[in-house]
Amino acid sequence: MRKNIYQPVEATIIDIKQETAAIKTFVLKPKSAFSFKTGQFIELTIPGLGEAPFTPSSDPAKTETIDVTIMKAGFITSVLHTESRVGDAVGIRGPYGKGYPLENYYGKDILVVGGGVGLAPLRSFLFALFGQMHKFNKILLRYGSRTPGDIMYKDELSEWAKKDKVDVMTTVDMGEPAWKGNVGLVTTILKDLPIDLKKAVGVVCGPPIMMKFVNLKLLDLGFKPQDIYLSMEKNMSCGLGKCGHCRLGSFYICKDGPVFTYEQIKEVHDIWD
Ligand SMILES: Cc1cc2nc3c(=O)[nH]c(=O)nc-3n(C[C@H](O)[C@H](O)[C@H](O)COP(=O)(O)OP(=O)(O)OC[C@H]3O[C@@H](n4cnc5c(N)ncnc54)[C@H](O)[C@@H]3O)c2cc1C
Ligand code: FES
Repeated sequence: MRKNIYQPVEATIIDIKQETAAIKTFVLKPKSAFSFKTGQFIELTIPGLGEAPFTPSSDPAKTETIDVTIMKAGFITSVLHTESRVGDAVGIRGPYGKGYPLENYYGKDILVVGGGVGLAPLRSFLFALFGQMHKFNKILLRYGSRTPGDIMYKDELSEWAKKDKVDVMTTVDMGEPAWKGNVGLVTTILKDLPIDLKKAVGVVCGPPIMMKFVNLKLLDLGFKPQDIYLSMEKNMSCGLGKCGHCRLGSFYICKDGPVFTYEQIKEVHDIWD
């Protein structure tokens, strides 16, 4: 019998962690081991209600459980936030897409720039890098949130900052009296970067407007379009390159992405819409 490619694998929610007011991390235990490459995405199904795409935020080396960090945006994400409980069954299909070509980053300085919930896929990416640190020169994480209360993975950020060869800086758009860090958009902490531009890559994930300005800033700093890796998002349906919902110029984000170099997509009209 032919396998139904749309048939999800059953998984159980085994933990739910409130990251910020609007963001939760769901730890899922699939019925059988589930592997993905960092940057690939899954379709998460709530039985009887529907599905939505998410990029796992956990270490791709872990196959027993996977984390998905989800911001409340519309119907499915609101159901997950307000009605899903530990012990509930969900479905997972995938993984889909190409993910990050880690081998292209060997020996390089890696500038990772995240905005808002965009840090979720980057958490998985960072775990993948930490698992083979000897292959990379240096990792700089620059992360921007709207307010201090919107900063995700607070404890992990300080743990990551203690690692050898890792440099972490966060910023918020709007400060508050107790906040001692930088106030300003994430582009304001992309100055005087301690990296060697001749052997650096930029990896960016966040809302479209943030990616647009970070991309411009990186080009301005001297990054080459082929060294800027962008994680693109569009409304999706099949996730398999069949329905055409996620078209980006001549590409399908689900099949050809979601990670693209700026060089690949720079001619596409309105890539940030
Ligand atoms: C490859 C990929 C990976 C993603 N990874 C994550 C992740 O790790 N964490 C996370 O919180 N979100 C992620 N998203 C976004 C997430 O898929 C949407 O927030 C979700 O589909 C919204 O579903 P909903 O039913 O709650 O909202 P809906 O009721 O469908 O829509 C609510 C609003 O969100 C918009 N919307 C719907 N789908 C998307 C989408 N795919 N991208 C942007 N806007 C959308 C709609 O246009 C509408 O304005 C990812 C999206 C893609 C394409
Ligand atoms: S989501 Fe159907 S082609 Fe990409």
